[in-house]
This record gives sequence, structure tokens and C-alpha cells, in this order.
Amino acid sequence: MRALFIFLSLVLIAILFCIEPLEGSRHKVRPYNNDKEEKLLENNHLVTNLPGQPEVDFRHYAGYITVDEKKERALFYWFYEASSHPDEKPLVLWLNGGCSSVGYGATQEIGPFLVDADGGALKFNPFAWNKEANMLFLESPVGVGFSYTHTTSDFDNLGDVFTANDSYEFLQKWFLKFPTYRNRSFYIAGESYAGKYVPELAELIHDRNYNSSIYIDLKGILMGNPETSDPDDWRGLVDYAWSHAVVSDETHKIIRETCDFNSDNTWNNPDCSQGVDEVLKQYKEIDIYSLYTAVCMAKSTKNNSGSMEVMFKASSKMMPRIMGGYDPCLDDYARSYYNRPDVQKALHVSDGVQLKNWSICNFTIFSNWADSKPSVLPIYKKLISAGLRIWVYSGDTDGRVPVLSTRYSLNALGLPITKPWRPWYHEKQVSGWYQEYTGLTFATFRGAGHAVPIFKPSSSLALFTHFLEAESLPSAR
Ligand SMILES: *[C@@H]1O[C@H](CO)[C@@H](O)[C@H](O)[C@H]1NC(C)=O
Ligand SMILES: *[C@@H]1O[C@H](CO)[C@@H](O)[C@H](O)[C@H]1NC(C)=O
Ligand SMILES: *[C@@H]1O[C@H](CO)[C@@H](O)[C@H](O)[C@H]1NC(C)=O
Ligand SMILES: *[C@@H]1O[C@H](CO)[C@@H](O)[C@H](O)[C@H]1NC(C)=O
Ligand SMILES: *[C@@H]1O[C@H](CO)[C@@H](O)[C@H](O)[C@H]1NC(C)=O
Ligand SMILES: *[C@@H]1O[C@H](CO)[C@@H](O)[C@H](O)[C@H]1NC(C)=O
Repeated sequence: MRALFIFLSLVLIAILFCIEPLEGSRHKVRPYNNDKEEKLLENNHLVTNLPGQPEVDFRHYAGYITVDEKKERALFYWFYEASSHPDEKPLVLWLNGGCSSVGYGATQEIGPFLVDADGGALKFNPFAWNKEANMLFLESPVGVGFSYTHTTSDFDNLGDVFTANDSYEFLQKWFLKFPTYRNRSFYIAGESYAGKYVPELAELIHDRNYNSSIYIDLKGILMGNPETSDPDDWRGLVDYAWSHAVVSDETHKIIRETCDFNSDNTWNNPDCSQGVDEVLKQYKEIDIYSLYTAVCMAKSTKNNSGSMEVMFKASSKMMPRIMGGYDPCLDDYARSYYNRPDVQKALHVSDGVQLKNWSICNFTIFSNWADSKPSVLPIYKKLISAGLRIWVYSGDTDGRVPVLSTRYSLNALGLPITKPWRPWYHEKQVSGWYQEYTGLTFATFRGAGHAVPIFKPSSSLALFTHFLEAESLPSAR
């Protein structure tokens, strides 16, 4: 039953991320102005002719890093230099949970080139996070996006530990290719199931850092609507559904009386299972990731109804979810863009002839998922006592990893409060509320869904900036 519990969690995890991108233009690279930069010129991963790309004056790199030579395992990354003074800015690794960080983070949320529905071009994102940092997007583990393995038995071992191991190996090898970043202040950020990946990787880095020759200057982690502690996350999910008028008092009462989310047998109780099924049944009528935005009705092939049910019953039929709020009908652009021969060539993915098959989510990797930590709160404690900065943010209209789940999880940590709950402001409006604890800051985004930067690009960038500078959010207009 524990296996089923983990499976159900993984299934929910698996649906965490899904939209899609686009196409091409000419692009100008700013001149190199010192020796260090000359060295980077030799880097064969420099992207020089990405179809549909807006003109920019920062450089970006993409390609594979082999993490296991023998098993022929390689991870794909896309790295954007900071748009100004890259030498002085930190390095930030971004991870999406379960699905592609390139398809979501980079081209839907916080990267400089967003997929655009109308026309064959990428569109410049004025709120890209590479305004403040050098941004590294990694597709992990193997099987996700362009990342691959030629050893099929690797897929039987995929799990949280495997993912952290490969990501760590990736980083060490990436630093060999980009030595100027070796000693740079380093942060890890991510959303959703990356709520598990991010602290797990941070812990691994922290543990390996005793060896000064492979030291990584990890300063902190940032997580948005993160899965954190399974029992608290489930409790938050059902309480949020009830408190936001998605299910009835009666259904909520049954769940409250029959579901023990701390147990290994949660789903063995038929009353509990049926109650939770009812929550999911109601959610499948709307967008669980963004309660108040419309679902896509335009395309009959995008069958929203039924998707939650399918995902709970047959993992092989799990469908990628459309993320609401941005453009709920925009579903196929990423796939068609990243499967173009000229795009794959420009990104050093293929020779443009033998193409790779890119998809934004690969749900089959979850069917054999080997391990998932029920809670990463113990890792939070360890990282906080090691002096790392932890910030958690939450879009408050997400039903999938709702703000209540995060509050239950953080409350369970029992950290001392250093600055009580208060609003934070952006452009004279209340962006959300925040509370500071010893070692941790928690902030909400008012009216944002699961993938916060899609809904609140400008205030997301503001929060990111404050995080990097370890500055409290603005608490006055
Ligand atoms: C992860 O790495 C550790 C240390 O190298 C190793 O002992 C362990 O077997 C690895 N686990 C997986 C699942 O790859
Ligand atoms: C990084 O810092 C260490 C210790 O200060 C130094 O020995 C090493 O040369 C530095 N590496 C680079 C690439 O700057
Ligand atoms: C530190 O890391 C280097 C490089 O991977 C390795 O050669 C060395 O054995 C490690 N030292 C210790 C004490 O683990
Ligand atoms: C959409 O899903 C519903 C319920 O699962 C099903 O009855 C319907 O035939 C599906 N429509 C399409 C176009 O697949
Ligand atoms: C690519 O993968 C998708 C989904 O996994 C599959 O439906 C499609 O047939 C594949 N295309 C090619 C050319 O292999
Ligand atoms: C998706 O994952 C499965 C293993 O679960 C793998 O066989 C398949 O090649 C992956 N698909 C892609 C497009 O990488």
C-alpha cells in the first residue's frame, strides 16, 4: 500500500508540468572584450543561429554533458549568460519537476526567449531571470526532454536519488566546460516536484563539499509551489479544494474523518479513496493548476475532461497537462519547435538529420520510479543549520500544490518566526503576503497559479532579485 501511496503521489507529480513552444530569426552576439571571454569563444556549445530568436546582446549555450560514459547517459542543458555583467552575477540552476526545464522554465516562464503562439518566432521576455543571474536550465533525469541514455536498464533505476546523482555529475562536468563559473555563488531554484529535487541536490552538494577540490559555492535554494511533505501536501490539497468551493462540506467531512495521510495505508480505506476521487473528479472540470482561468475548449484533441482520471488509473495513458493562465490552448508549439531539424541543429542536439524526439513530459519514466522522499523537511533543517538561505513561494490560486499544503509543511518545521505575516508590495500593489523565519522566507503571490512567473512575471523577477540579495521583500508601497 505504501507503494500505491507513492505511486499515486508520483502520478500527481507527473502531471505537474505541461505547455508548449515555437520558431525563428537572426541574432547578434556582443563582441568579446577580454581574454576570459576569448576562451569561451572556443566553447563549441555556443548557440549562434537559433531559428526565430530575437536579437540579444548576451550569449547562450546549449548541448549535452555526458554524465556516464560507459552507459552513454547524457543530460541536455541550455545556459543563458546574464544580460549584463555576467562576470559579477551568480549562477542559478533551474529545475522543473518531472517535465522539461527547457519546455517550461526556459521557454514558458523565466527564460529570455518565450514561445509565441502567433508566428514563427520566439518572443523576448523582458522579465527574464537572466537579468539578475546566469541561468542554467537542465533537462533531468534521462528520458526527459532531450536528455537520453543508451542503456535501457537505467530507466529501471530512475528515482530521486538517481536524479540527484546525475544532476550532481552534470554540474561537476559542466564546470569543466565553463571554468569561469567554478567558484561563482550558486543557487538552485525550481517548482512543483522540484520541491523534492532541489533540496535533494542541495544536500548532495553540501555533503560532497567537504572535498575542496570539487567544492560548489552553494548559497541557497528557492522553490515555488513545491511538493514538500506528502501528508501535509495531501491535507492541503483537500482542504484547499473544500475552502475554495470545489467540493462539498459532506465530501470534505468524509475525507477528514477517514483519511490518514500519515499512514502507509491511506488508500486502503474505501471511504477515503472515494472522497479523494471526488476531489479529483471536480478538479478535472477546471484547471487544478489555476482555479480561476479558463480551460482550453478550442481543440477537441486536447481532452481536458478525463485526464485526471486517466492519470490515476493507467500510467501509460497519462496525458501532459495544459498549464492554465498563460494561454491554455497553447499546447503544441514547444513540441513542433523543438522537433524542427534547424532548431535541433542550432541547439547542438542533433545533426539536423538524425533527429531526437522531444516531448515536454515523459510520463512513462514515473512508472518504475524507484524512490521518492515522503518529506524533505529534514533536509530543510540540515541546510538551514548549515547556513543556507531557503525561500519558498506559493501562487495562491494553485489547487495542485496549494498554499495550504506549503503552510502545513512549513508549520511542521516549527521554525522561530522572525518577521510576522505581512503584505509585500510590487508597483504599489499587494503582490502577496510573507513571513520570515530563522533561515527561511515564505511568500505568497496573490492571484497566481502553479507556475507563478507565467502569471506574475514582473513581481516574480522582483522576488528573485530579493532572494539573491538576501533582502526582505518590500513591506511598504
Ligand atoms: C548515487 O551515488 C552514490 C555515491 O556515488 C552511490 O553510492 C549510489 O549507488 C548512487 N545511487 C543511484 C541510484 O544512482
Ligand atoms: C577556485 O577557488 C579555488 C580556491 O580559492 C582556487 O584554488 C581555484 O583556482 C579557483 N578556480 C577557478 C577556476 O577560478
Ligand atoms: C576529492 O575529489 C577529487 C576529484 O574528484 C578526487 O580525486 C579526490 O579523491 C577527492 N578527495 C577525497 C578526500 O574524497
Ligand atoms: C473526452 O473525454 C470524454 C470522457 O473521458 C470522452 O467521453 C470523450 O469521447 C473524449 N473526447 C475526445 C475527443 O477524445
Ligand atoms: C515521439 O514520441 C511521441 C511520444 O512519446 C510518440 O507519440 C511519437 O510517435 C514519437 N515520434 C517519433 C518520430 O518517434
Ligand atoms: C521516455 O521514457 C522511457 C522510459 O520510461 C524511454 O524508454 C523513452 O525513450 C523516453 N522517451 C523519450 C522521448 O525520451
